[in-house]
Amino acid sequence: MTSCALFTPDDSNAEWLAEFKRQFAHLNVQDWQHIKHPELVKYGIVWKPTATFFQRFPNLTTVFNLGAGVDAILSNPAVPEHIDIYRIEDGGMAAQMNQYFSYFLLHFFRNMDQYQQQQTSQQWQVQPFKSAASFRVGILGLGQLGAQLAQHLQIYDFDVAGWSRSKKNLPNVTHYTGLEELETFLQRTDALCCLLPLTPETKGILNHQNMSQLPQGAVVINAGRGEHLIVDDLLKLLDQKHLRGAVLDVFEKEPLSAQHALWQHPKVMITPHSSAQSECAPCVEQIGQTLQAVVHNQSPSGLVDRHQGY
Ligand code: NDP
Ligand code: OXD
Repeated sequence: MTSCALFTPDDSNAEWLAEFKRQFAHLNVQDWQHIKHPELVKYGIVWKPTATFFQRFPNLTTVFNLGAGVDAILSNPAVPEHIDIYRIEDGGMAAQMNQYFSYFLLHFFRNMDQYQQQQTSQQWQVQPFKSAASFRVGILGLGQLGAQLAQHLQIYDFDVAGWSRSKKNLPNVTHYTGLEELETFLQRTDALCCLLPLTPETKGILNHQNMSQLPQGAVVINAGRGEHLIVDDLLKLLDQKHLRGAVLDVFEKEPLSAQHALWQHPKVMITPHSSAQSECAPCVEQIGQTLQAVVHNQSPSGLVDRHQGY
């Protein structure tokens, strides 16, 4: 019988274990601390695993990451080089990201930030009409989440563009590729949405040089990783009124410390890494199917390319 060790850093093990039992009882997924013969375990299902986890299971061949981003696992020196890593593709998160970005894009497009401000001084003033087609959204990263967001935003008639490494052909989405086209992409973007993975190439991409390419009055929404953003650069551009506002879901250190200046900034909205969460049932279904394919020496999708970093 296959045996799999489950590791999560919080109290969510019970929910995942119950769902694995319901969908794939034969995979015998168990809490990592309760496994009697750890030397027999080849498969791990993990979110932010500790070094102790890898020490306890010396014969792991494959781990399945319970999230989309694999930056934490790839930067963990305790993860042996030979282990294959599979990640969640969508797993219920694309729909949540669509909701999250729609909410904040509409907030800015419909001038809710200005109306909130006006309300503080009882100011009755209608902001000028703008057509949806004149609102230029730009999505950094057109993968599982970014590509679905680009399609979803069509319902609002925004002018949507995306940026990625390789060429894409998404209907009604203007596409930009690679560093050579980044500047042109930024210069046409009123609302910049970051859905990139964290890699050495993307770390710090939301820096002064890049964000100052955005048109005056642009907004930045980051749901990728905190390390994509240079916070001091953002604050500078907000205070100089080059940027109109920012929405941040992810931070270099989470939870964001209570003393951090971002909490108090009037033009920054903060959410606690909650834009999209791995949804138990679809993620278990995906991991179970991927694991079975691995056991049968097939080549399922979701394998992380360690050299590429995502
Ligand atoms: P994917 O791997 O499917 O997509 C990544 C996209 O980024 C691809 O389009 C890829 O280009 C592009 N990309 C990567 N590196 C570069 C680069 N150097 N230059 C240009 N484009 C690049 O990831 P997902 O869509 O599944 O997830 C994206 C990220 O979202 C995750 O890694 C995670 O950090 C974050 N996330 C955050 C959550 C939250 O709650 N805040 C929840 C889930 C995910 P190409 O297509 O050409 O390879
Ligand atoms: C993820 C996340 O990467 O939750 O899945 O951030």
